[in-house]
Amino acid sequence: TTVEWEAESYDMGGHDTYMHKEIAEQAEAVDRVLRGRIDDRFATVRLGGLNLDAREARTMRRVKILGCGSAYHAGQIGAQLIEELARIPADAEPASEFRYRNAVVDPDTLYIAVSQSGETYDTLAAVQELKRKGARVLGVVNVVGSAIARETDGGVYVHAGPEVCVVSTKCFTNTAVAFALLALHLGRIRDLSVSDGKRIIEGLRKLPGQIAEILADEQRIAKLAADFADAKSMMFVGRVRGYPVAKEASLKLKEVSYIHAEAYPASELKHGPLALIEPATPTVAIIPDDDLLEKNRATLEEIKARSGRILAVAHSEQEKADDTIVVPRNEPELDPVLMGIPLQLLAYHTALALGRDIDKPRNLAKSVTVE
Ligand code: AGP
Repeated sequence: TTVEWEAESYDMGGHDTYMHKEIAEQAEAVDRVLRGRIDDRFATVRLGGLNLDAREARTMRRVKILGCGSAYHAGQIGAQLIEELARIPADAEPASEFRYRNAVVDPDTLYIAVSQSGETYDTLAAVQELKRKGARVLGVVNVVGSAIARETDGGVYVHAGPEVCVVSTKCFTNTAVAFALLALHLGRIRDLSVSDGKRIIEGLRKLPGQIAEILADEQRIAKLAADFADAKSMMFVGRVRGYPVAKEASLKLKEVSYIHAEAYPASELKHGPLALIEPATPTVAIIPDDDLLEKNRATLEEIKARSGRILAVAHSEQEKADDTIVVPRNEPELDPVLMGIPLQLLAYHTALALGRDIDKPRNLAKSVTVE
């Protein structure tokens, strides 16, 4: 409830910043978004406030996800999960772009607004425009009873608890998990088999323990961060599941350390950004052990050939990388949830080494409630 949130949000619980506290809380936060929702009997999840019946879930033809910043990146992970598990064409777009481009509003599309605060003006304005045109709009929101939660027809609460730091961490992770739940729910109404449903449920249950494992490696990540503190610019790359993770990690680093960073699909490097690679521009490569591993390894070689320093986030040590942060294996669809977490710590420790104002980065506000 909101009352619980208030008491909790002012207690730093021994951490030096809210960012650190919120990163450290993620195992419990993910446990919370799962709690009471898994239905083992039908290998699915129950989402009380969704307000979407099975018939609607079967007949919708597209899903369009809208949000800003980290919420948009979590929405990109969500779109991939919905395509993979429910086989519904889905994509995400910044709400701020959508509302200004007089988009075609399609009656067979389900629109989903994503927001931590539930008060971001661009996202709210997109919701209002969609509602005015008769669209079906759901919310994936953290703050209960917020404007976006009230104006949508239903949705999934993210249950991350209060997020005080301007830079989103635990809410990003919980939003990605909330989308995994929604994708599983839609998938099981459509074509996802019982055995695949069970496989994803097992994966979801493993997440809190695996997050705790990643967080236990903090000291090593802190040492790596010290090496990046003097970089002028950094490159983040990933393919498909790794790409939204790269975008989010790049945003985290920029917001909190003020180091310039770019995020690209690994496959796009050769179409231009490879020109930036040189010893002073390190690359962080997100390379899960999925069907794209070999392609990703080839990218590492291309970067190495230009003497670029590489930090890989992977499921096993990567020979071509200078350093690898090894994350635990889960179901491939859930890799983005885990792979973002060490990079939140990387951003935090880089900012700490640079003496930045971590909880209140310059020029930024926690929620952007104006145009
Ligand atoms: C994330 O670290 C940001 N500070 C920012 O991009 C944020 O995610 C965005 O402004 C959207 O906020 P919301 O989730 O409250 O709508």
